[in-house]
This record gives sequence, structure tokens and C-alpha cells, in this order.
Amino acid sequence: MKPLALLASAGIVIAAPAMAQETKPQVTAQSPDGSIVLTVTIDNDSRPMWSLTRKGKLLIAPSKLGFILTDGLNMTRGFAIESSDTAKGDDTWEQPWGERRFVKDTYNQVTVRFKQGKTYGTRLMNVTFRLFDNGVGFRYEIPEQPGLKTMKIADETTEFDIVPKGTAWWIPGGEWNRYEQVYQKTPIDAVSTAHTPITMKLEDGTHLSFHEAALVDYAGYWFKRATGQTFRTTLSPSSRGPRVVRDLPFATPWRTVRIADDAEGLVDNDLELNLNEPNKLGDVSWVKPGRYIGIWWGMIRNDWTWAEGPKHGATTERTKQYIDYAAKHKFRGVLVEGWNKGWNGDWFGHGDEFSFTQATPDFDIEAVTKYAAKKGVKLIGHHETGGNIANYEANMDAGFALYQKLGVDTVKTGYVADHGGVIANTDYPGGPVGPVRMEWHDGQRQVEHHLAVVEDAAKHHIAIDAHEPVKDTGLRRTYPNWVSREGARGMEYNAWGKFANGPDHEPTLVYTRMLSGPMDFTPGVLSLEGANGPLASTLAKQLGLYLAIYSPIQMAADFIEQLDKYPREMNFIESVPTDWAESHLIAGEVGDYAIFARKDRASPRWFVGGVNDATARTVTLKFDFLDAGKSYKASVWKDGEGATYETEARHNIAYDTRTVKKGDTMDVWLAPGGGTAIRLEPR
Ligand code: NOJ
Ligand code: CA
Repeated sequence: MKPLALLASAGIVIAAPAMAQETKPQVTAQSPDGSIVLTVTIDNDSRPMWSLTRKGKLLIAPSKLGFILTDGLNMTRGFAIESSDTAKGDDTWEQPWGERRFVKDTYNQVTVRFKQGKTYGTRLMNVTFRLFDNGVGFRYEIPEQPGLKTMKIADETTEFDIVPKGTAWWIPGGEWNRYEQVYQKTPIDAVSTAHTPITMKLEDGTHLSFHEAALVDYAGYWFKRATGQTFRTTLSPSSRGPRVVRDLPFATPWRTVRIADDAEGLVDNDLELNLNEPNKLGDVSWVKPGRYIGIWWGMIRNDWTWAEGPKHGATTERTKQYIDYAAKHKFRGVLVEGWNKGWNGDWFGHGDEFSFTQATPDFDIEAVTKYAAKKGVKLIGHHETGGNIANYEANMDAGFALYQKLGVDTVKTGYVADHGGVIANTDYPGGPVGPVRMEWHDGQRQVEHHLAVVEDAAKHHIAIDAHEPVKDTGLRRTYPNWVSREGARGMEYNAWGKFANGPDHEPTLVYTRMLSGPMDFTPGVLSLEGANGPLASTLAKQLGLYLAIYSPIQMAADFIEQLDKYPREMNFIESVPTDWAESHLIAGEVGDYAIFARKDRASPRWFVGGVNDATARTVTLKFDFLDAGKSYKASVWKDGEGATYETEARHNIAYDTRTVKKGDTMDVWLAPGGGTAIRLEPR
């Protein structure tokens, strides 16, 4: 053990028990600025407990740590603290693409070693806590030990006893539609079982988000309310019985809490990325951010079909038209769905007939990719699986090989099936084929599957955009070809019902789903028309979405004939980057509105913009992020007079050009369901 003085200077104190028998040892540690203080103890029932204070106030009251096993006594009681170790980190690392190029990573760390008594089999369990100034992450590390070779985990019992009262924004975990649900705003003690990230605003203004980082070979967890404001992790189920099976030694994903004074501190926060391993793929210059259009909205609206027939969307001819439009309007890619065989029957939740190599007779994939190459455009590939990963795992490599041969470097995947509806027939990717097993979209099996796909795609220099995915836990740092995913209600819902997503949806997504990572939301429905009524959006909001909802691949989702009707809006879309040097939330409140300033990675331009909820408001934007001594031409797209998502006035848009410099301010009126977008170019 290190001398006490040294430990104290590292922000770590191990209290020396006055009478070893009576006083429980306790380990404390603090964040680099001292604002967050962790205490780890053993309670009167010999249970490992953790708690947090922030700025001297109790935030997380003593909360339990541990596991329930299917084949042995629980790892919840009978523990003592054996020892602890500290470490520190202070680093800046570079992202190949992202919301910002450089990420700061500064923390204090303590590993606490627990040992269960003899009557519990003397099991060993370590917990490493990493304390940042804007949050905390901790994970279990189960070391090699006699008598425990494989852990069969029935559930994890990590508790979070949140002390101050407050409000939560959340979607339920384990429900039929996976992550695709409308967010609820309730008191914290009215949450049931939630997916993460779940966001909270406490009475004193503190903002919290609970989530996880580096979800690898483990089940995703749901945030289950036990009583009052006490929650615990409950793991997504598995067909095997135990929700997680792991050979020792292993580490769980990090359990994370972002902690900030305000909405900005919650959003401009890289906690989960910092808790992931560095890039494992080496040179990833083949991963290319960019804008795209697609043969897609027509199927979502039911004007065209994925299946073959008179309304088939993916024809050679139509794809060439889309390629022409992409070339003319500076889109890097054209997504084509339904080009392959297997869509004709009942594919939803079945998917055994999907081919990943054979095209329909009216789609000449060789001709189309050749034509695209001539025009400097990329076909974006598509692999819908219907949730049938048995079929996909057997055939995906051939699918990626074909795409690679044809120059396709980005593939959208899909897992359309209800909860618990993933069809697997092996215990693990590449394993022996066995009977059908039904799995969950966020269970251990599907977590393994996604990484197997991403790793196989990487071998073919292909980037992945997964729909109906598992939640994002920052793995894009380790696998930078995992560029985007869905994992929330995207634009598609607006095709299916009037105001289906509602005007609050996107300003809520920014502070919830988006804290986990990029989303392929697919903005840019400039017609504002779904198949069953209009979108809960003004025209300016469609542009603001490009700044509010980050993704390195960003769609303009409408039909090209519709996009063509809006040349002034297309002027913005054709210029908006998808890869940034810096990003900051400059105005916003959870669920109400969100305005970002983002600096292009490839030019000195800045872009400002975002989205509003149903309440009209005027926001004062401060241009204090601009470079001093330069003037910028500001081109502004904003809600026009009387604009509102509720009526035809949703199309009212206004334009403005002016000169701004660092320190200037600009008042922008945001309509109900509105938004704004501003391009700033040095003069
Ligand atoms: C659901 C996805 O979200 C959507 O984008 C896709 O078009 C369909 N599945 C079909 O794969
Ligand atoms: Ca979907």
C-alpha cells in the first residue's frame, strides 16, 4: 500500500480504522477539481456501497454494488475491502471524425478490491471508479480466482440512490418497440424501467445523465426504479437463462453518470468516449463522413415498395436519377434499399430469405455502381436482416465482399423485429449452428453480433450505420467505422402519422439519446409532408436539425423532386459539414430548445443552428466563439413571421445576410416547432 501522504496528494484517502474490528474501512477519492467526492464502504450487512457528493452536497446516497448468480450464492453480501490502488490520467486524444477533433481526458481513478468471506466462497470482486470533473464512471473487474471460472449472471444489482428531487426525461426499457418511443417527462420517482441514457434535472439545477460506456460482450442494462428515487441496473435478457455468461477474468462495461451545472455541461461532455478503448483499427482514412440522399422516403411513405413489383423503388433507372441529383447537389452518397432479393414475403421479424448478394431483376448493381463512380458518387449499401442474425451472420461477409468490390464503403444495416425477436442459432458469432434462439436487441448475444459485424465490415473497409441497433456506448472510439445508428424514433415516424414525433421530440433527443452518440435521424423532409399528414416542424427546423442532431453521415430524406423545389434551403444543405473541429451547445434547455455552434473541420466556417419545441421564444445568440479580429458573413435561415408547425404557416421561412464578429449578439425568433440555421464565412 502507498504511504498515506502520497495517497492524499492523489486525492485519495484511506481512513485508518481506529479499532480494526469495529470500524469499517472506507475508501474515498475525488475528481481533479475536487467538486465530486466518492466514498466506498461496506455497510452493516457487509455489502459493498458507493456514494457521491458534489460541491459538498450528497448526490448519490450509499448505493449497493454486486451480482446475482444463477449457479451460486449472490455476490452482494459478506464482503470486506481488502485494498485499493489509485491512478490518474491527463491526456488529449484526437478523433478521426466527430463533433470535435480533440477530446480532453482528465481524471482520478481508484480501484477498490473486495473479498467475500469464507462462507461465500472467498470470491474476489474489484471495482474501478474514474472521477472526472463532469461525471463518474465505474466498472466491475472480476479477477482470475480459484473456485470461480465462469460467472453466470442472473442480474446485476448496481444501485443509484439519487438524493435531490427532480424531473426525468426517459423512454421505457424492454418494451415492444425497442428504443423507438416518445420521451416521457415525469418526476424522478415516477420513472418505471427506463432505457439509458436517462436525463434528469434536479431541483438545484444540477443536470444528470445515467448511461454506460464500452458495452462489449455483456448485456445492455435498463435503469429500473426500485423505490423512491433509488434505481438499479437490470440486464437485458438472454435465451441462455443467465443474462450474461463470462469467463474470468473480465470487466463489465462502465456505469456512467454525467454531472453538470447546466444543459451545456451535460451535452459538451465526452465521459463515455473517454471510458472507451482507443482506436483498434489503425488507419481509418477509408471512413468518410458525408451527406447522402436515398431511395427510401418513398418506401417509408408507401408510394414505392421494397418488394419487387410495379411500385418497386430500387430500379436501375431511378437510382441513376438519384446519382445525377447527388452529383449536382454535392451529396457523397445515394442509399438504395430494396435492391436485393428477400423483401417479397413477410420479412418483418423473419428475414430468412434476405440475400445480401443477389439483386432484383430490375436493379443492375454493377451498372449502377459504375455509373456512380463516373459521377463521383458512392452507392450506400443496405443490409436489412429482419432481426434474423442467423441468416445474416452466415452471409454478411459475402455481402461486404461484394460491396467492397463495387466500391461501396458505407452500409446501413437493420434489425426490424419486436422486442425479444432477434433470431439467432449460435451461442456466439462464428459458433456451431444449433437450435433457434430468440434474443433481445440489447442482450449479450446481439451486443456480440454488432461488434462481429463492425469488425467484419472493417476488414472490407466498410463503415456501418445500424438501425434497430443496440444503444451507443461510445464504441466508435475503438471502432471508428461504426459511424452512426438509429436507436430512437427517427424521421420515419413522421411519414406514418400526423405530428407523429411531436414538436418536443427533437429538442428532447438532443439531451437524451444524443448523449450516447451520432444518430442517423434522416432530416431534410423539406416538403414537410408525411403520408398521413404534415410534420410537426417548420421549414427552418428541417435545416436546424443538421446542427442539432449530429451524425457523420447525414441524409436529406425527401424525394429529389421535392428537394428541387427549395433551392434556397438546398443552398444550406449543400454546404453543411458532417465533420466538425468543435461543437458547443450555445443556448438550450432540456426538452425545450437546443442551439449549437459547430466549426467545420475542413474550412474556417462556423455553423449555428438548432431546434425548438412547441413554445415560441426569442433566443439571443452570442458570437463569442468566433475568431477575434475577423468579420464573418452570416447567412441566416429562420422561421418567418407567423410560422408555426400547426398550420400551413409551417412553410414560412425568412432569410437574412449580415456581418458579425466575435462578441456580437443576434436575436432569433423560434416558431412553435421551429428552428434556425446560420452559416458564418470569414469575409
Ligand atoms: C427501419 C429503418 O429504420 C428504416 O430506415 C428502413 O428503411 C426499414 N427499417 C427497412 O429496412
Ligand atoms: Ca427504425
